[in-house]
Amino acid sequence: MARKKVTVVGAGNVGATTAQRIFDRGYADVVLVDIVEGLPQGKALDMLESGPVVGSDASVIGTNDYAETAGSDVTVVTSGIARKPGMSRDDLLYTNMDIVGSVIKQVVEHSPDGIVVTVTNPLDAMTQHALEVSGKPREQVFGMAGILDTARFRTFLAAELQVSVQDVHAYVLGGHGDTMVPLVGATNVGGIPVGDLIPKDRLDAIVKRTQDGGGEIVSLLKTGSAFYAPAASVAQMVESILFDRKQILPCCVKLQGEYGIEGLCVGVPVKLGAAGVEEVITLSLTDGEQAALERSADAVRELIDVMRNRQN
Ligand code: APR
Repeated sequence: MARKKVTVVGAGNVGATTAQRIFDRGYADVVLVDIVEGLPQGKALDMLESGPVVGSDASVIGTNDYAETAGSDVTVVTSGIARKPGMSRDDLLYTNMDIVGSVIKQVVEHSPDGIVVTVTNPLDAMTQHALEVSGKPREQVFGMAGILDTARFRTFLAAELQVSVQDVHAYVLGGHGDTMVPLVGATNVGGIPVGDLIPKDRLDAIVKRTQDGGGEIVSLLKTGSAFYAPAASVAQMVESILFDRKQILPCCVKLQGEYGIEGLCVGVPVKLGAAGVEEVITLSLTDGEQAALERSADAVRELIDVMRNRQN
């Protein structure tokens, strides 16, 4: 059986690390694309030469030409400018909008049937823009954020309780920003509600740290933003799609009335399989959580309005 084909656009930190994770596992041939000449070629060749050591027979090529991406099953879009210290995700809006728009046109031209996973920030707005530019259904164009936000939340909870990260079950919904909504009520550790295990003030501090999780890394790195956990989160989505795992994962998808939200790309749990988003999962939320989700959706809507007004 022919190997699947995954294109990763943007050969920077997130893109190259995503490509490496997929290449290492050997289940898909990888095409790494960047606008900078030599960068994707150099990283791809270096990665390919790790094949004999890591035991991967997959191919990985780097290119500046979208013709090489033709027929990709999944394309991951990471191209853009990364957040710098003191810069909000919103500052990135216009620059990354132009980048994502031009990338999506070329991706869709060469892989009209493929699935697109957006990663570029501000994530929810870029997903919405990518979906609109692509002309594709929402099932095939969606974004990575919730898995990352949830992973951060789970990491902090596991450290607090000194338990395996695998026993911490949680969802973070909403926009990928300060208004994200960690669902504390639905979070459990080995089946025990987290509220029974951690006092409220500590839990509130962990929720806050999760909401500021991206900024915490940015202020440590000083140049650039997080990439190991983002790349791992993208790889989980790619695997759920290519292996038709049908995992329930929080992803940024255009809502069509679910959670009372219409026509906006926001993070909610979805079933991810070979067809992409195969189902939007509707959790029952408390009134407080629903209100927080709506506030988060409002923040996304504001950004999209800014984007639309610019287009006009
Ligand atoms: N086409 C292709 N690649 C592009 C384009 C373009 N039009 N414009 C920029 N790029 C490339 C850059 O050359 C760079 O190699 O995108 C890459 C971005 O890499 P980094 O600057 O290392 O950024 P990274 O940390 O990978 O983050 C990428 O993901 O998490 C988000 O906020 C983050 O939006 C950012 C994106």
